[in-house]
Amino acid sequence: MVTVMKYILCLLLTLSATISHASNDDWRKSDNDKEKLNKIIKVIPSTSDIMFQMGERYKNLYWAAKQGKWAFAEYQLEEMEGLIKTLMITRPKRGETAANFLAYGLNGYEDAIENKNWAAFQKAFSKMRQACEHCHKQNRHAFIKLQKTPAKGSSPVLD
Ligand code: HEC
Repeated sequence: MVTVMKYILCLLLTLSATISHASNDDWRKSDNDKEKLNKIIKVIPSTSDIMFQMGERYKNLYWAAKQGKWAFAEYQLEEMEGLIKTLMITRPKRGETAANFLAYGLNGYEDAIENKNWAAFQKAFSKMRQACEHCHKQNRHAFIKLQKTPAKGSSPVLD
């Protein structure tokens, strides 16, 4: 009787070890290449992942220029351009409207930043906001409107 009990206990332990092993299974090692690729495609940045960053950079861009931190403003713009290019890869359906933004949404900044010209910057910023909102409209998210004058930035680089 005791032997049988021991046998059952041993069986149960082995079974639970197998189950927990299955749930801890590392797909990065055990999946085949096709399964791995499918999982990786599922977790590449979504539009909202990218846009959340765009929103922060939009605020930081404004406040960097306002505080005369022109190099940081320029850096925000480069990162925003990079984000839109990433979006074109991860979400091909947004590709056409994204390309449109790259053609019109970033205009006017080069001179403004080179000449540290706040008035010219404000014009470029206003055009950018319109281009952002235009894309939201084209992608059925017209309700996502942006502050004309962001209340504050979020970066610790800013005052
Ligand atoms: C290619 C089109 C496109 C462009 C260009 C674009 N957006 Fe968006 N944005 C979207 C879409 C689509 C959504 C809705 C997200 C979704 O579908 O999940 C969105 C959502 C957002 C959100 C809400 C994010 C959230 O989840 O809380 C913010 C903030 C935002 N955009 C800011 C901006 C800013 C700032 C710019 C310009 C500097 C910009 N967007 C340019 C398409 C665009």
